[in-house]
Amino acid sequence: MSTSVTLNTATGPAFTRIYGLGAYRGEHAVTNEDIAEPINSSDEWIRQRTGIITRARAGEDQNVVTMGVAAGADALQASGVQPEQIGAVIVATVTNMMQTPAAATRIADGLGIKDPTAYDISAGCAGYCYAIAQADALIRAGIAEYVLVVGSEKLSDFIDPTDRSISFLLGDGAGATVVGPSDTPGISRSVIGSDGSKWDAVSMSGELHKHRLGLEPFPTLRQDGKAVFRWAVWEMAKVAREALEVAGITADQLAAFIPHQANMRIIDEFAKQLGVPESVIIARDIQDTGNTSGASVPLATHRLLQEHPEVRGGYALQIGFGAGLAYAAQVVRLP
Ligand SMILES: CC(C)(COP(=O)(O)OP(=O)(O)OC[C@H]1O[C@@H](n2cnc3c(N)ncnc32)[C@H](O)[C@@H]1OP(=O)(O)O)[C@@H](O)C(=O)NCCC(=O)NCCS
Repeated sequence: MSTSVTLNTATGPAFTRIYGLGAYRGEHAVTNEDIAEPINSSDEWIRQRTGIITRARAGEDQNVVTMGVAAGADALQASGVQPEQIGAVIVATVTNMMQTPAAATRIADGLGIKDPTAYDISAGCAGYCYAIAQADALIRAGIAEYVLVVGSEKLSDFIDPTDRSISFLLGDGAGATVVGPSDTPGISRSVIGSDGSKWDAVSMSGELHKHRLGLEPFPTLRQDGKAVFRWAVWEMAKVAREALEVAGITADQLAAFIPHQANMRIIDEFAKQLGVPESVIIARDIQDTGNTSGASVPLATHRLLQEHPEVRGGYALQIGFGAGLAYAAQVVRLP
């Protein structure tokens, strides 16, 4: 049946940008010695192979929601945006202990944000960069004027202390970012995707229902470190190059390079392959925060802005990659 009635569609501003960032890091600095014994490792091995000296871990009283609220409040304050201006809250996490409701609804409630679009996304260590692409799209589509993006992870809840493949890499924390309308481009087109054929390179060790039936222990994180390392260095360097290309800028025009904080050797190799010049500041938050998955890129950005205020207003290439295997990269103008 044809109709002469046309639907109203939403449209928003042409461009978006990051207004401000906030952070919450787990309050305990866990040293390599603290965790080495059950995995028959050493401070020297962990430093050499990963660049991690301590990892931030949160106490019993913290979770994805409480850390997300802390980082979100910090981001709102840094950006000068009021809770009532936020139209959407997107949370990147794989460690919310409650299957439902979404952590985003509870984080929004904790921040006094009324009636937002609120949902979580599960894209592992790529989650935050996925969420930035979505925030940009929601604003340009006219669905929200300002979006709060939160990456929040309590990975220590999913660690097997005897697992040699990943446990020693992981930390806890939350990073948050306010995205809003802009007169000039502040977030480039994203390069975003996944390769599900490699899903078991980083995953949980089992399924919850098997644990419930008493057939398997509580699932924890595990990985094929070598496979992830190779994929990260080769495939992600291509994605990062493509992100620069679609943004229309070159590596020497960047103020900062903010890769997912997976392993210092991956970060170094990555920078080498991209030909990042020495003038570009490279985020190395992993050294004392560890790998915080969905929280890693915003935490690294937050620290960079504190330690290198000269990068403010410049362009940063950010890239997240991990479980899925999922990846996302974009160039953003730093607030
Ligand atoms: C996990 C990772 C640090 C392991 O380092 P690696 O250099 O690949 O280590 P390998 O598996 O090749 O093992 C090398 C040696 O170290 C030993 N080893 C492995 N894990 C160890 C550990 N945790 N502590 C001490 N020794 C360890 C191995 O037994 C092996 O010993 P051998 O040479 O006597 O046989 C590394 O593969 C990595 O960081 N991968 C990227 C994964 C990642 O960042 N994932 C996060 C999700 S995005």
